[in-house]
Amino acid sequence: MEQREKFSSRLGFILLSAGCAIGLGNVWRFPYVVGKYGGAAFVLIYLLFLGILGLPIMAMELSVGRASQKSVITSFHVLEPKGTKWHIFGYIATLGNYLLMMFYTTISGWMLYYFVKMVKGDFVGKTTEEVGEMFGTLVQQPEVMVFWMIVVVAIGFLICSFGLQNGVEKITKVMMLSLLFILFVLVARAITLPNSAEGLHFYLKPDFHKMTEIGINEVVFAAMGQAFFTLSIGMGAIAIFGSYIDKDHRLIGEAMSITLLDTFVAVMAGLIIFPSTSAFGIPADSGPALIFITLPNVFNAMAGGRLWGSLFFLFMSFAAFSTVLAVFENIIASNLELFGTTRKKAAFINALVIMVLSVPCILGFNVWGHIMPLGEGSSILDLEDFLVSNNILPLGSLIYLAFCTSRYGWGWNHFLEEVNTGKGIQFPRWSRVYVSYILPVIVLYIFVQGYIAKFFA
Ligand code: PHE
Repeated sequence: MEQREKFSSRLGFILLSAGCAIGLGNVWRFPYVVGKYGGAAFVLIYLLFLGILGLPIMAMELSVGRASQKSVITSFHVLEPKGTKWHIFGYIATLGNYLLMMFYTTISGWMLYYFVKMVKGDFVGKTTEEVGEMFGTLVQQPEVMVFWMIVVVAIGFLICSFGLQNGVEKITKVMMLSLLFILFVLVARAITLPNSAEGLHFYLKPDFHKMTEIGINEVVFAAMGQAFFTLSIGMGAIAIFGSYIDKDHRLIGEAMSITLLDTFVAVMAGLIIFPSTSAFGIPADSGPALIFITLPNVFNAMAGGRLWGSLFFLFMSFAAFSTVLAVFENIIASNLELFGTTRKKAAFINALVIMVLSVPCILGFNVWGHIMPLGEGSSILDLEDFLVSNNILPLGSLIYLAFCTSRYGWGWNHFLEEVNTGKGIQFPRWSRVYVSYILPVIVLYIFVQGYIAKFFA
């Protein structure tokens, strides 16, 4: 077995964990669910969940990772009391990581494809309909999507195979910093577009009436799913980074930095997309296709749009890649712990496995288009996303919560000692009742209500 690596710096750790959190969830998923669930009121609930649920759970994941020095697949083995069965969740969480990659790689591939098309100038002079049709044509061509998905998986595992410091950390640091820069430029452009006010209004001024129309329980369920998705919590993707740091800093502070960076990027992505939708008369509730069928139009109508567009899709690809790298890293680490193979071998085999597993999502848009697992108009992508975002992540978060607070698990005292080792803000002792009883009830309640609203109402 290879020796466990460490990050070379604290900045590396923060940027990498933030890179894992920041991804398609912020730039693709966040705008489209905000559009679908009615705008600012949804955003408000989502922000609330980030603070009251996301933050403490992220600190717990980091603690389990740091204390066990393992990835999710074996971390519970190390920390659980003898004879208990918490470790079973490690296998489910690992499967969750694969499940996420089964659709994430496809959408990341779309980003790369759109980046290349932007650079080539393929959108120049196209009408709104023609741009929409181009997305329609793309999803009708499984071979094109398979090609770009393979590019994403191959690059991802290649970088991971170089190891933590040489591969993942170096690349992600550069990608994250350029991403933050590009964001500022694009927001400045978007909010100064004519007619941007209406979109900003939709995005920033809550309309609770609209929320009741859609159904409060469904909206709240979706906001919780989005909060867990965007922070990457509930299946060990953040825990793995905890396992690569030393004990210099208390973990709630680190969780705050990651959450703030992630929230910042999501809020900025909204500030780019919603002003643009109203400026060019594009419906905000266009679904998963939102950024692909709207933004090229937006860039078309802008001076220097080809450059702005290329930068935008480059930034989207960066964001997606930093997440793909993090999850691949988690997958490779779990394979190393389980089978004791070499990093290179694990990377190679998993690349092949994920390429094959990603095919159903792609076929779901064309050859298997008749399969609508979640009702009329839904696709295999929707099912895979629903299983991860609305099931594995909230239930996994519950398990982390229970594990860190219950004496039948790792327990409150062990957790508190780990999370509070180092310098920085304390995880407060008084929060015990809140995290042990109130938080789990909130998550469970929303989960059950959401299911009822989604399937039985
Ligand atoms: N947070 C990532 C994003 O926003 C997605 C993710 C979810 C990654 C769960 C890992 C685990 O794109």
